[in-house]
Amino acid sequence: MSEPTNETNGTDLDHELRVSKIHNGTVIDHVRSGQALNVLAILGIDGSEGEEVSIGMNVPSDRHAKKDIVKVEGRELSADEVDVLSLIAPEATINIVREYNVVEKNRVERPELVEDVLSCPNESCITSANEPVTSRFEVLEDAIRCAYCGTIIREDIASLIDA
Ligand code: CTP
Ligand code: ZN
Repeated sequence: MSEPTNETNGTDLDHELRVSKIHNGTVIDHVRSGQALNVLAILGIDGSEGEEVSIGMNVPSDRHAKKDIVKVEGRELSADEVDVLSLIAPEATINIVREYNVVEKNRVERPELVEDVLSCPNESCITSANEPVTSRFEVLEDAIRCAYCGTIIREDIASLIDA
């Protein structure tokens, strides 16, 4: 049996460095394939403010066949942002990086309720009227449900995020 050649190692390294490491900030890892752009939408990031962001889509993962990954330099996430992330990326891990090291790693947790961050798409819902009512969604296994009108939403949850 021969030792792995440098060439093989070089190839492995290239795979690992597909999205480069960050200095200080947050790595949202193990995001469900195809959800990276929705993660950016939830974080309100569109690049217009000069944020330093790297994303990988459909990159190889050992945990699942493929994953997305989002790395944001100089930013930590709020509890509300993590709650909404959990709805579209239930297996995600949130890694806080300081001076190139992962100093904290948390799995997202699905909250029972998401309040005041999403808008109900039902135009006749009381929360759509000009009333002082705080939006509230119950989190189900594979969907969310408006606590006021019962509308169930399974897809495109990111598009309901309050601007
Ligand atoms: N990472 C990064 N920049 C750093 C440190 C880590 O972008 N300075 C990224 C890694 O590339 C990885 C994620 O943050 O995608 C988590 O890093 P780490 O905990 O070192 O990796 P794993 O042990 O593979 O994580 P897990 O077990 O959660 O898959
Ligand atoms: Zn509603």
